[in-house]
Amino acid sequence: METVLNKEISIAPMMKWTDRHCRYFHRQFSKSILLYTEMISSNAVMFGNRKKLLDYNDEEHPVAIQLGGSNPSLLGKAAKICEKLGYDEINLNVGCPSPKVKSGRFGACLMAEPKLVKECLEAMKNEVNVPISVKCRIGIDDMDEITGLDEFVDQVLDARVSKIIVHARKAFLKGLNPKQNREVPPINYQRVKLLKNRLNNNVKIIVNGGINSMKVSKKLLQWADGIMIGRQAYRSPLMIHYLNQFFSKSYDHYDHDVRINVTENIVNYANQCIKNDKNFKLNHITRHMLGLYSGLPGGRIFRKKLNEIAINNNQPKAILDLSEKIETIIKSKNLMVA
Ligand SMILES: Cc1cc2nc3c(=O)[nH]c(=O)nc-3n(C[C@H](O)[C@H](O)[C@H](O)COP(=O)(O)O)c2cc1C
Repeated sequence: METVLNKEISIAPMMKWTDRHCRYFHRQFSKSILLYTEMISSNAVMFGNRKKLLDYNDEEHPVAIQLGGSNPSLLGKAAKICEKLGYDEINLNVGCPSPKVKSGRFGACLMAEPKLVKECLEAMKNEVNVPISVKCRIGIDDMDEITGLDEFVDQVLDARVSKIIVHARKAFLKGLNPKQNREVPPINYQRVKLLKNRLNNNVKIIVNGGINSMKVSKKLLQWADGIMIGRQAYRSPLMIHYLNQFFSKSYDHYDHDVRINVTENIVNYANQCIKNDKNFKLNHITRHMLGLYSGLPGGRIFRKKLNEIAINNNQPKAILDLSEKIETIIKSKNLMVA
């Protein structure tokens, strides 16, 4: 039995990555970790294809939806729709540096408009009972990392949000593209720690950015209320299992059993998806699984063969057969080392 984690571990919202199939896959590694959707604009929630954009699997709970936008009234209405659909938390994106998002006046550029962010959050909060959170950077462009972030956060606190997720690096809206903005500006965990100390438990502070090992995770959790992990969890999802194992203090599952169990569940899930839609492409699921054997013997073979299974749109059972083959490779390597 898993115990409730006393710190919050979440998987970051990642556009084109953390779709519902990805989230279902990640859920198999931990029952309690919090999953975030990709960012969805309030306009899309209001006027788009809601079934396509907002449907999710019951098994994904706890699951938070991330909204993008800067029109308080639209965000309030969109939040209400999301709450009705059963999302467990609604998050506002104030960290995305993409030019497209900037031109729509949302994402990271809103860090320069803290009053507007407050209005947006208040409008959302007025419409729903589920927690409202915000995800931001430590600053943008030439904003002062000390005073600028403090001023921004003080406005956000006025809106009585339940938590602030801080990607611990600045975003440069001029000169860097979104990918560079996740790598080039230096990580500054100390700045987030300073914020946490200043706020003294008035709000949960979740730290994000560059968390790529258990060692870094444990260190940050000495002071932060939680950690949010993006790329590392996607590229090497077994990390979700290790985090879950550590924080729930349950060490009774072998990695081998976890991988096979996850694969079995995914095969059942894929069969269900095909049953519901005969044109369903296996690739929608397998593309998120490529990192299952990351860093392990047979990892490269797994990726290659998994792609072949997806291209040929084989029966899902082929994924389990492949996993079992890779486990044999791992076992034989381990025996050689021993
Ligand atoms: C492909 C990709 C898409 C992303 N899309 C979003 C998004 O929709 N909303 C958001 O707030 N952040 C988005 N991010 C940023 C992540 O949520 C996270 O803040 C960033 O990757 C830093 O965390 P990490 O070093 O653990 O990956 C995205 C990141 C990646 C790699």
